Amino acid sequence: MQLKQLNDTNTMVPEIGLGTWNYKGGIEPLRKGIEIGAFLIDTAEGYGTEEIVGQAIKGIRDKVFLATKVSGRHLRYNDVLKAAEGSLRRLGTDYIDLYQIHWPNPSVPIKETMRAMETLVDSGLVRYIGVSNFSLKELIEAQSAMSKYPIVSNQVLYNLNRRDIEKDLLPYCQEHKITIIAYTPLDNGHLARTNRRTKDRKIQVLEQIANEIGKTPAQVALNWCISHPNVIAIPKSDSVERVIENCQASGWRLSQEHMDLLNKVFS
Ligand SMILES: NC(=O)c1ccc[n+]([C@@H]2O[C@H](COP(=O)([O-])OP(=O)(O)OC[C@H]3O[C@@H](n4cnc5c(N)ncnc54)[C@H](OP(=O)(O)O)[C@@H]3O)[C@@H](O)[C@H]2O)c1
Repeated sequence: MQLKQLNDTNTMVPEIGLGTWNYKGGIEPLRKGIEIGAFLIDTAEGYGTEEIVGQAIKGIRDKVFLATKVSGRHLRYNDVLKAAEGSLRRLGTDYIDLYQIHWPNPSVPIKETMRAMETLVDSGLVRYIGVSNFSLKELIEAQSAMSKYPIVSNQVLYNLNRRDIEKDLLPYCQEHKITIIAYTPLDNGHLARTNRRTKDRKIQVLEQIANEIGKTPAQVALNWCISHPNVIAIPKSDSVERVIENCQASGWRLSQEHMDLLNKVFS
């Protein structure tokens, strides 16, 4: 598994992590993922999966980079602290590696939320602060509202079919070394569950490239994501086999020719 630097910190994270929204796979797929190098697990107080993640990391907490999120409904100062306490309890740990604001909430002053996030770092309960679903403007505002710590990551929708961040957010984050955590990198499985008789030109090209290089379409779609500097991806799978398949999207790179073809067909 290839690693990438988290922002400009000393911490390295795997370029493929494990998503857990709608996760129903039990302990095994997460354990297998960690074992083969996908040691970043992403969850959220809103997912209902923090308990199962807690069970999966029991006894191996120090080998895992744990990312969770405070809901956009809990962004008042005291609510953030209470939400973090709840996540820590459900995860069965005494610190969160990356605590992310799940969605921006314009009805709460961002300064108040970021002050609570900084308090959590000061008290040792959180190592790094991240955001999710923040536009470029919201990201810049959130960073300006911080007095001590950087925002290390923005978790956003990014896959071959959904490339909106390429307009402004991705170049900005690359310039400032802010890690983009690409969610829904398989477009909810649409880029993975392919069908040889498909008439969809995009999927035909994805399959053709996969066949040419001896990879699966899911691996090509994930590799396209993580080939972008500063981008890591967090596919979700309930199955040990598909977790292994997804992890094997790391450790190699698509050729420039294949990247260009994908960029053209999926534009
Ligand atoms: N911050 C946010 O607002 C936000 C929003 C959405 C998602 N996320 C995060 O991003 C993670 C991933 O996104 P996602 O769950 O929306 O979508 P995704 O990872 O793009 O796709 C998941 C779907 O693809 C299937 N799949 C996975 N690997 C496969 C493979 N190799 N071959 C065939 N099918 C495969 C899964 O089925 P099986 O499980 O049956 O394999 C599942 O149905 C989430 O779990 C969550 O952690 C964050």
